[in-house]
Amino acid sequence: MKLARRVEQLPPYLFAAISRLIEEKRDAGVDVVSFGIGDPDLPTPQHILDSLAAASTEPANHRYPESDGLPELRRSIARWYERRHGVVLDPDGEIVPLIGSKEGIGHLPLCLIDEGDVSLITDPGYPVYEVATMFAGGESVKLPLREEDGWLPRLDEIPGDVAARARILWLNYPNNPTGAIAGSDFFERAVQWARDHDAVIAHDLAYADVTYDGYVAPSILEVEGASDVAIEFNSLSKTFNMTGWRVAMAVGNRDVIDALTRVKSNLDSGIPQAIQEMAITALDGPMDAVDGRNGIYARRRDRMVEVLREMGLRVDPPKAALYIWAALPEGERSSADFAARLIDATGVVVTPGVSYGQAGEGYVRLSLTIADERLEEGLARLSTFARGG
Ligand SMILES: Cc1ncc(COP(=O)(O)O)c(C=O)c1O
Repeated sequence: MKLARRVEQLPPYLFAAISRLIEEKRDAGVDVVSFGIGDPDLPTPQHILDSLAAASTEPANHRYPESDGLPELRRSIARWYERRHGVVLDPDGEIVPLIGSKEGIGHLPLCLIDEGDVSLITDPGYPVYEVATMFAGGESVKLPLREEDGWLPRLDEIPGDVAARARILWLNYPNNPTGAIAGSDFFERAVQWARDHDAVIAHDLAYADVTYDGYVAPSILEVEGASDVAIEFNSLSKTFNMTGWRVAMAVGNRDVIDALTRVKSNLDSGIPQAIQEMAITALDGPMDAVDGRNGIYARRRDRMVEVLREMGLRVDPPKAALYIWAALPEGERSSADFAARLIDATGVVVTPGVSYGQAGEGYVRLSLTIADERLEEGLARLSTFARGG
């Protein structure tokens, strides 16, 4: 069968490849400990689940939802942004709920990219920005991130001809996979850059509320005038351990939100309403479960950093996001070889940095979303490996 070029061009989805590797090892009888995928192991808080149970019996929730979401959910998102970031949003123009932020990220280039237009994508980075750009007929130009720059892109080094064709600048802080954070000074420079080049910033704030040691992650919309040029993706997935429920939002520039709403209304029929009710409960409710969960991740982070250093990897404890980003020991060149050797010798899965882009070579990523006893099992095996056992 002849498939479309856009499908033929698809790289294998990173996590699908990892899942396959894990499957093969398990089939061979290996007790695999995976630090691979960033999917919260802790359950959705009970009060949020209770609201789903109540909403599920409401007949109105058995019917098609509106693709722009319940007005009550848009208002709840507006309250959340005001409370959490001091950002005032119009629920009827600056907010659209999403079926997970991946859905919105996937659809955004259809709103902004014509054949030959450019998306600027940070490397290493979440793979969906590039694939979604390709689906829309656009070209991705990579902005390499470097450890010495705190994993922030050098906007002033973007060549003039590329900047002239750029329609979207994708940013993601707290960052996957590096765990890097960005301050409002960086966001101010990015907003100015987007203004100067008539581009749209798509800021992916998926890890807004997975933070440690008192760090508070800013929204790009906190920058004066940012909503002239920026939209932001935010998600309940990581904040409230709700990856399975698929609920998120895009907020910010009215024209872009309107375009995204129109594209979506032609492709999907919105988020099941009972799940929108869960989102309202989550956003308007108490944050103690989130704070407690972040304490658990921070403890795991510290344990992992200790063992990785023992193995000779260089690692700074991240202030946010779900990942440890560790530089390979002296003399190791290939993150894929290192990860393959680890899984063969120990049954422990880490993700090679190069899977997130060429600039990720030399690093591996480990996720904090692994139950404590499995984490300890994995770390014990890594310690033994480090001692040559
Ligand atoms: C950087 C980043 N953005 C977006 C997403 C998608 O999150 P969701 O679709 O669950 O909101 C992820 C998921 O891992 C991510 O790492």
